[in-house]
Amino acid sequence: MNKTSSNVIWHGATVQREHRERLNGHRSAILWFTGLSGAGKSTLAHAVEQRLHACAVRTYVLDGDNVRHGLCGDLGFSAADRSENIRRVGELAKLFVDAGVIVLTAFISPFRTDRDLVRSWVAPEDFLEIHCRCSVEVCEARDVKGLYKMARAGSVKDFTGISSPYEEPLAAELIVNTGELNVEQCVEMVLNLLRERGILRSI
Ligand code: ADX
Repeated sequence: MNKTSSNVIWHGATVQREHRERLNGHRSAILWFTGLSGAGKSTLAHAVEQRLHACAVRTYVLDGDNVRHGLCGDLGFSAADRSENIRRVGELAKLFVDAGVIVLTAFISPFRTDRDLVRSWVAPEDFLEIHCRCSVEVCEARDVKGLYKMARAGSVKDFTGISSPYEEPLAAELIVNTGELNVEQCVEMVLNLLRERGILRSI
């Protein structure tokens, strides 16, 4: 659902995205990391952020587990709640783009339609979908949070990859095989993408 409240009129900002981007010296964008729980989305997003921050690039990571402590703390893991989670995060990410920031989002975001909806809200060059590809077997073997074990035992319901679907991206801007590569190799791939897309060029 994407509604507008009644009797509200948009107030245009005087300081706009292009001004902020010029001040920052780089473009803003959404780096949308998607993949199974334990695939390494958060690890990769934070590692990329660290590299960018060291180069004076303005960044912010929105992470599923963290956002679900606050903004989305009322949501569970049904299909409808996951869609609402991604809708809210997408709206938030759009604000970060307007604020001139490179926002890195680390959410399973298992449904293609939800990801595509967020993509449709910004210009094509502003949304880079990064598929952290890692098999369920590898994620389950890692089981960092012990949730796969609980999902197999049935104490966690609707668990992605076990009892709830994950729809792989069909045309991600980047696929990183997080099950096979080390973090540094994955970081380089993401930074190369940003260079190729002109996001890090000086403006
Ligand atoms: S999403 O599907 O709505 O995008 P999100 O990324 O916010 O999910 O949250 C996923 C995190 O919540 C997982 O990394 C895991 O730690 C935790 N989690 C708890 N229950 C579930 C579940 N049923 N399915 C997937 N992740 C779960």
